[in-house]
Amino acid sequence: MRSRILSTGIYTPKKVVTNKDLESMMDTSDEWIQQRSGIEKRHWVSEGETTLSMATHASKEAIEKAGIDVDDIDMVIFTSLMTDYIFPGTGVLLQDSLGFKEHVPALDTRNQCTGFLYSLSVADAWVRSGMYKRVLVCASEIHSTSMDKTTNGRDISVLFGDAAAACIIEAVDESSESQLIDHKLYSQGKHADKLILKKPTPNDLRGRIHEGILDESDIWPYMDGKFVFKNAVTRMPQAMKALCEKNSVQLSDIDFVIAHQANLRINNMVLEHLGIPPEKTHNTLDRYGNTTACTIPLTLDEAVREGKIKRGDLVAFVAFGSGFTWGASLLRY
Ligand code: UT7
Repeated sequence: MRSRILSTGIYTPKKVVTNKDLESMMDTSDEWIQQRSGIEKRHWVSEGETTLSMATHASKEAIEKAGIDVDDIDMVIFTSLMTDYIFPGTGVLLQDSLGFKEHVPALDTRNQCTGFLYSLSVADAWVRSGMYKRVLVCASEIHSTSMDKTTNGRDISVLFGDAAAACIIEAVDESSESQLIDHKLYSQGKHADKLILKKPTPNDLRGRIHEGILDESDIWPYMDGKFVFKNAVTRMPQAMKALCEKNSVQLSDIDFVIAHQANLRINNMVLEHLGIPPEKTHNTLDRYGNTTACTIPLTLDEAVREGKIKRGDLVAFVAFGSGFTWGASLLRY
């Protein structure tokens, strides 16, 4: 048994925040943001939009495009860096909101920017083993409410956006032209503190929420941007090369690459290093910013809709992010 991506669905909040809009919140400029990252705008949630509501929209779109009923799905994987509640994870909430008749299991994964790749590999392994036939993999992220939108937080808050993206993984025969081929995943927890949100934490004996916590800088995400950048441009090509070597695939055989959308300069350097021409990729970062676990399915959805990726194409996904975690997947779309 093998698995393939049957369909995708996305949801982006209605509210669009341009670089110009950010100029009125902090000391930044459209020019700086575009030059350093390639981002022009991003979407932020409004009142009532939650990781669950966005995940539900994206999942329903993926189910509709697949032409299946929700009860044809027998496993849910939800991935996000931040969920609606500390516990339970949004996976079970999604299981409920989609209206399954059965008590289908729901797994939550937390692997930041590689959350989708880790989840995809789990879905693939489960389908290959025969344990499940159709798995919904859904990513949903809200960053806008957890960032310091003053000049102090400008190195992070201009980069991230909110979105959800989902896909249906289904079982196919080994002879199927369309199938997931393999994955290579890595982690290096030694560098966890290079991109991290430390607080509130249960390890604080004053209590997870205590008097004065609002004045602590650790309640905002921290990133050593240059260090993360250097690792991203090294690790993503390494993962791609290792995956290709393992599967006896030449980099030149790859029809299309979808890279995590953190920084356009990173993606250009990664593809240049791998000798993959710009026409073999697609970016959505300019319009959505970095939506962590959502970036790959979001970009895949758009590339397929625009006819850039067709059934049977040899496609690679590659991602790097907080953890550090990184990896790559190879598939015949
Ligand atoms: O998805 C997870 C993975 N994430 C990534 O891969 C992101 C990796 N890192 C990056 O993308 C880049 O490092 C950044 C976009 C975050 C920053 O770009 P950079 O070229 O590394 O800039 P920098 O950190 O060296 O900052 C240059 C200057 C600094 O000023 P000084 O010290 O040179 O006077 C910053 O204070 O730019 C300043 N700066 C800003 N200026 C205007 C930082 N943020 C901003 C801002 N607007 N938003």
